[in-house]
Amino acid sequence: MFDIDDAVDFDRDVAPIFASRCTSCHAGASALGGLRLDNEFAHGASVRVRSSGSPDLLRVEPFNPAASLLWLKLNCDQPPSGSRMPLGMPALSPGERRAIFSWISRGAPAGLGGSSQFTSVDSTISGTWFDPSAPGQGIFLEVIQADPPGLLLNWATFAPETVVESGNRIVEHEKRWYVGIGELDPARGSANVGVFESSGGLFDSGALAASDSPVGTAEVYFHSCNSASLIYDIELPVGEERRRFARSIALNRLSPSPTCEAGRINVPPPANPL
Ligand code: HEC
Repeated sequence: MFDIDDAVDFDRDVAPIFASRCTSCHAGASALGGLRLDNEFAHGASVRVRSSGSPDLLRVEPFNPAASLLWLKLNCDQPPSGSRMPLGMPALSPGERRAIFSWISRGAPAGLGGSSQFTSVDSTISGTWFDPSAPGQGIFLEVIQADPPGLLLNWATFAPETVVESGNRIVEHEKRWYVGIGELDPARGSANVGVFESSGGLFDSGALAASDSPVGTAEVYFHSCNSASLIYDIELPVGEERRRFARSIALNRLSPSPTCEAGRINVPPPANPL
């Protein structure tokens, strides 16, 4: 339908469309359809939030415009519920629709412009992060000080669906360890990493060397010292087949970094006025 613009950013490219074309009806406590699209609410109110008009659909389903009510309402005259948006007004331009299509197709990440104020991300961002909706699974992110700088990701998690059963009771999901490594763009506060699965090692032994096999890619976006997004697109074995897992998750820092200043990293101190 549209080719995907890889550089699309929610704050810079999508939020302004909502602000100019949608907030006359979708702002404030009495927003129509129960949907707020004013700046600080737009991302949280749309991504992975169930529609009030078609409860079996999400307003925005990351990676999947065709299943996202917000997209369907911009692009067909008879969406699954209600009317085409913006209601009673000319449709969005192809450029505006391409931005929204690209944003959803790329996993609907939060933006960098408004929420991220990084002048430059450095190693003070390193630490332990987690997805609040999946406690007990940690992601260690470490900035590698090199030229160019890199980001190392260690993801301690579990296998999809594979279980060790005892009788008919699930006692344990297999543990998995994924490793990602890639270049960090300090100015954008983001990194593209290749993701690998480590296997073959043996506890407390150097006799068997672990090896890494590629499973996909991920992008990490740092929004502040304490919040980041992880967008992953990986293929993992489930039973006999390989299945694709593509999602965007919010990451929070487990414990604050004393050297990372709230919302800003490596910002030079204000010039001495004297
Ligand atoms: C003139 C008022 C008006 C404007 C402008 C408008 N909308 Fe709406 N919107 C509505 C009304 C009324 C509803 C509830 C009925 C419906 O779903 O059609 C709604 C519902 C929606 C819903 C469904 C919410 C849900 O949870 O089911 C989405 C998504 C939506 N609008 C997106 C947009 C977008 C994106 C824009 C801007 C491009 C926009 N709207 C502009 C009036 C408007």
